[in-house]
Amino acid sequence: MRTPLIAGNWKMNGLRSDAVRLADELARHLPDLHGVEVVVCPPFVHLEAVKQPLTGTAIAIGAQNCADAALGARTGEVAAEMLADLGVRHVILGHSERREYYAEDDRVIAARYQRAMASGLVPILCVGETLEQRDAGRSEAIVEAQIRGITDLIGADGLGAGVIAYEPVWAIGTGRTASAEQAQSMHRFIRECLATIEGHDGAAERRLLYGGSMKPDNAAKLLAMEDVDGGLVGGASLNAEGFAAICAAVPRG
Ligand code: 13P
Repeated sequence: MRTPLIAGNWKMNGLRSDAVRLADELARHLPDLHGVEVVVCPPFVHLEAVKQPLTGTAIAIGAQNCADAALGARTGEVAAEMLADLGVRHVILGHSERREYYAEDDRVIAARYQRAMASGLVPILCVGETLEQRDAGRSEAIVEAQIRGITDLIGADGLGAGVIAYEPVWAIGTGRTASAEQAQSMHRFIRECLATIEGHDGAAERRLLYGGSMKPDNAAKLLAMEDVDGGLVGGASLNAEGFAAICAAVPRG
């Protein structure tokens, strides 16, 4: 059985006091969790600060990226070992904002993935097409290429317990969410694609998250889809009440 996962990507938002306040509010809104895993991914510099308010809750802490190399001479980077040492459990990798603004390609994302795995972190690998690609009827080809671009480099076994997040670029921060049917159709396609890479059993167990303008008012429909195992939530994760409502929208088996 795939345990649903809701991850909040805080992106580059909030000063330290905001992060602590949000974590405090989350601890109050989500004191205990049943049948759903919840993780929040603050900016690196706030990771330490959110630990204390989240202590004693079931909310895990994730990061938004990790270095593609082990500890050493990589000015400006943060190693997966450092994150694991802080108590971080998950790491978002290959987010479309990283691909677009920081020119991250499959090679560097694959290396980051391997470093994350080697440190015991759970990677959340993001894939998704742009509007132009969707309009050209290339959504599936693009998403498949993004997945194979990583598995060709790390091998099917290298995926480990990693999670894949389908985030159509046109739905991120735009308020224009994919319909539940569009999300389900792509998630089904991703699972079929994974089955050819890692075999049916591995693909059947892999968690697939949807991301892109997931909100309290559309979460239940998206999360009810058979192959949607959770969400990667951006803007709506910055409001504790809204994020808690999304977590509560997870269907209980
Ligand atoms: P929004 O929920 O703000 O659209 O962001 C989605 C996202 O990019 C999560 O990683």
